[in-house]
Amino acid sequence: MSAIILGIESSCDDTSAAVIKDGVLLSNVVASQAVHEAYGGVVPELASRAHQQNIVPVVSEALKHAGVSKEDLNAVAFTRGPGLMGSLLVGVSFAKGFARSLNIPMVDVNHLQAHVLAHFIKDDEEREQPKFPFLCLLVSGGNSQIIIVKDFDDMEVLGQTIDDAAGEAIDKCSKVMGLGYPGGPIIDRLARQGNPERFHFSKPQIPGYDYSFSGLKTSFLYSLRDWMKEDPDFIEHNKEDLAASLEKTVVDILMSKLHKVAKDLKIKEIAVAGGVSANNGLRNAFREYSKKYGWNIYIPKFGYTTDNAAMVAITGYYKYLKGDFCDISLPAYSRVTLK
Ligand code: KG4
Repeated sequence: MSAIILGIESSCDDTSAAVIKDGVLLSNVVASQAVHEAYGGVVPELASRAHQQNIVPVVSEALKHAGVSKEDLNAVAFTRGPGLMGSLLVGVSFAKGFARSLNIPMVDVNHLQAHVLAHFIKDDEEREQPKFPFLCLLVSGGNSQIIIVKDFDDMEVLGQTIDDAAGEAIDKCSKVMGLGYPGGPIIDRLARQGNPERFHFSKPQIPGYDYSFSGLKTSFLYSLRDWMKEDPDFIEHNKEDLAASLEKTVVDILMSKLHKVAKDLKIKEIAVAGGVSANNGLRNAFREYSKKYGWNIYIPKFGYTTDNAAMVAITGYYKYLKGDFCDISLPAYSRVTLK
């Protein structure tokens, strides 16, 4: 019997719903919230209000695109956390009501696990899937982690940021430069026209497999302040080189730790996931490391890098196959790690 799963994602500022049938994606609808742009960051209260407005039309669209009716669904999978509590509550409450009204099981999904399992979404593009065990560099606005993935439901965090996430650091530096929000895609675009060797910013010396990005942010801020004493229009005159140098520093930090783990564990199956995996500098670095060290690399399709419900639905699908359902009394959680 085939399994049709509805996935719902509402952990931050994207309301998304997707339908997956037997592991194959039928639809993935994402409503992004432009309302935060004016504030230079996500405003939690506005995010939950926008989710309230978006959730019903987004789910309707996802079912319509998939060509399935709600009665065809076998389960509802939803992001339980981590994320913004007000945002999560909208998706979690909707999923509970929807599943209960259809009398079908609910599957709770860890958002971080979903980012990793995005590599297993099957769609109309033929792509190779990573083989277990593999390493996954999960880089987003809220996380920077190196994860060993032993199975769909067996993952362990080997290293993670002790302060800011990589995406958060890029977004904050971009804000200091007076660029828009989110800064990641803007820095990426500017970096393509700049010289990555022009400026040098501090790199952390953290033992083990952990990351730190707060020092880079401070170094970027203080350097800009000094340069602007000489030239008040320094940013405007140098924004491409600043973006390229910042991006290179972040990518170097990410890749050197990932390489250390890969070498220590002798693993050559290496994936990347999360919003920052859309970054072209990081994607190019993966390709270079693949050539240099014989890594088999897995880079997700752009649409599966930032928050989306397709990754929630595929995670829900694998949990559904195991009968790993959750109870209606389950609360959302704002903070949680993989293990
Ligand atoms: O995974 P995601 O959508 O949300 C979280 O769960 O955090 O990641 C959002 C992060 C933001 O920091 C955004 O600036 C960054 O991903 N991002 C990028 C790019 N596209 C999105 N960073 C660098 N280059 C990009 N092209």
